[in-house]
Amino acid sequence: MRDYPTNKRMMLFSGSSNPSLALKVAEYLNIELGQVERKRFKNGEIYIRFNESVRGADVFIMQTCSDPVNDNIMELLIMLDAIKRASAGMINVVMPHYGYARQDKKSEGREPITAKLLADLLQVAGMDRLIVADLHISTIQGFFDVPVDHITAIPIIAKYFKEKDLSNCVVVSPDVGGVKRASIFSKQLELPLAILDKRRPAHNVAEVEHIVGDVEDKDAIIFDDLIDTGGTLVEAINILLNHGAKKVYAAATHPIFSGQALELLGNSKAEEIVVADTIPIKRDYNKNKIKQLSIGNLLAKTIKKVYDCKSVSDLFKGEDLV
Ligand code: R5P
Repeated sequence: MRDYPTNKRMMLFSGSSNPSLALKVAEYLNIELGQVERKRFKNGEIYIRFNESVRGADVFIMQTCSDPVNDNIMELLIMLDAIKRASAGMINVVMPHYGYARQDKKSEGREPITAKLLADLLQVAGMDRLIVADLHISTIQGFFDVPVDHITAIPIIAKYFKEKDLSNCVVVSPDVGGVKRASIFSKQLELPLAILDKRRPAHNVAEVEHIVGDVEDKDAIIFDDLIDTGGTLVEAINILLNHGAKKVYAAATHPIFSGQALELLGNSKAEEIVVADTIPIKRDYNKNKIKQLSIGNLLAKTIKKVYDCKSVSDLFKGEDLV
């Protein structure tokens, strides 16, 4: 256990992955982002130096797992190492999207468990606490020996959908693994739940085999934790329409949008696809179809609660998250 120096003050730093979200959070907190110098050596190795003293401060380092995911993780590890050696007080990582989370168990022999590996790397590098949004599966919290504040964008996304006509609507989980998450979303909207039985014949290939629940003549909202290639979503949209759904919407917290996902989803038959800004969307996209909601205020409120040693779960009792 580290011996924490104390000179209590809040400092917020951003990695390179999502600077616009970090700026929003800093604005909500009414503080300046801390100054970090970052360079690359000729061979691609990363150099980091914090340009101000962090001694004894409660530091919050924001870094999400977005493309280039491996570089962003390595940059965060180097930031942690530098800040630990600079005698920071509590070192909090704010990771809106926790990557490598889908490999959370061995499905076959000789596979890694990367969700655990990343947890180990962060802790060895110096992290004292993780603030994270909508983990792929909440049991990943147990891979850490430090506190994990697991927050969710579900109330923000649900609030957005409450503005629509939901009188004949059903929430759909695109796979059995996502039922708990979709069920929380459906309860917040007071809607019934249907489940798609998805199989994965290969990595990044999705096939839906059955539907559990009633979708005929209803509007449907597919709810997932993340959209990567968009394959799961497009398959789910088409299956629901083929089974008599009238309009299909979709929502997910993390817009990974790799490969041709933006084009695929922009041209899909979905009415609207709603995501959070845990990952920046770096290319042009069809803004009539894809809507990005900010969790900046939620992250700022969470950071403030952590800093003040107050309950984070209290944040999810009201409706003032947006
Ligand atoms: C799967 O377990 C996840 O919750 C997502 O449904 C999936 O990873 C999405 O991936 P893609 O968009 O590539 O189908």
